[in-house]
Amino acid sequence: MSMEIEAIKDPGLPAHVHRAADTDPKAAKKAERQVAILFLLSALGTILLISTFFFISEDTFIYLPVLGNTNAYQLFLGLGLAASLFFIGMGAIQWARTLMPDEEVVAERHEFRSPDEDRADFVATVKDRAGQAGLGRRSLIKRSLGLSLGLVGISPLLLLRDLGPLPKDDLTKTSWKAGTRLVTDPGDRPIRPEDLEVGAVAQTLPELASGEKRTLNNIGKDAVLLIRLRPEEFNLDAERLSWTHEGIIAFSKICSHMGCAVALYEQQTKHLLCPCHQSTFDVTRAAKVIFGPAARPLPQLAITIDADGYLVAKAPFTEPVGPSFWERSS
Ligand code: FES
Repeated sequence: MSMEIEAIKDPGLPAHVHRAADTDPKAAKKAERQVAILFLLSALGTILLISTFFFISEDTFIYLPVLGNTNAYQLFLGLGLAASLFFIGMGAIQWARTLMPDEEVVAERHEFRSPDEDRADFVATVKDRAGQAGLGRRSLIKRSLGLSLGLVGISPLLLLRDLGPLPKDDLTKTSWKAGTRLVTDPGDRPIRPEDLEVGAVAQTLPELASGEKRTLNNIGKDAVLLIRLRPEEFNLDAERLSWTHEGIIAFSKICSHMGCAVALYEQQTKHLLCPCHQSTFDVTRAAKVIFGPAARPLPQLAITIDADGYLVAKAPFTEPVGPSFWERSS
């Protein structure tokens, strides 16, 4: 039997109280304006969010009485997103409370799957209710809601920016150049060969030129491990040996398998170990892979010392750092 959704008077319910907007056209107009204002506030929130992405630097700080020095980028991003979601929700609630059909209905229980006839009735009812909700008639609400939903809909696209810059040749280039000093990480102190004892390992980064800033992207690509052996312990060809300095050898810290940080050094065996999938690299043989899934050695950075006796890069990396798939030829 088909289920009719219709107003049914239930003797157990108190008399239904109609809302002002149901009986007074002026109240309905006022409610409509309220809903539109809420949707417009949501749109303004989204515009604030988008503008923040494009026009406020991530390093902009402002002073606020209660919060003190506050990152303006994060503040306005948060306020914009909060306003855009909050007001669109409030607008929908206000619309439902004041303007959508306000009928008390009793629906009979029925089998889980409705008969086809009921389903057709349902579709017809939805269309009917949509008409009553004023989607067709209330053009102000329709337009403001469209604007608000449209802007909210595109805002997630902006989050793609947080995935970082497009790769291009970014994957293959690091900040290392001929003459770049190796500095401690953390600490940014230049390193002399005598700072490293035989058997020691140190993580380093390229020294920043004045005004330059480190980014997470660069730190990831530029990280270099320095390891000091006795010169006679190396098993290298003449060229690779010339890339070392007094027993100190430098490798990219980024695993050539899938890019984890190669963080473990076994002093006895002189093996570098990647904790992710156990790729193992032999330091004495230019980080040759001796175990695990890595397809190529860790790139070696040629080093020497400058006129002040600090360790510097002799040249940039001669191959891409990181996972092998970055290097198309391998
Ligand atoms: S990422 Fe290093 S072994 Fe897989």
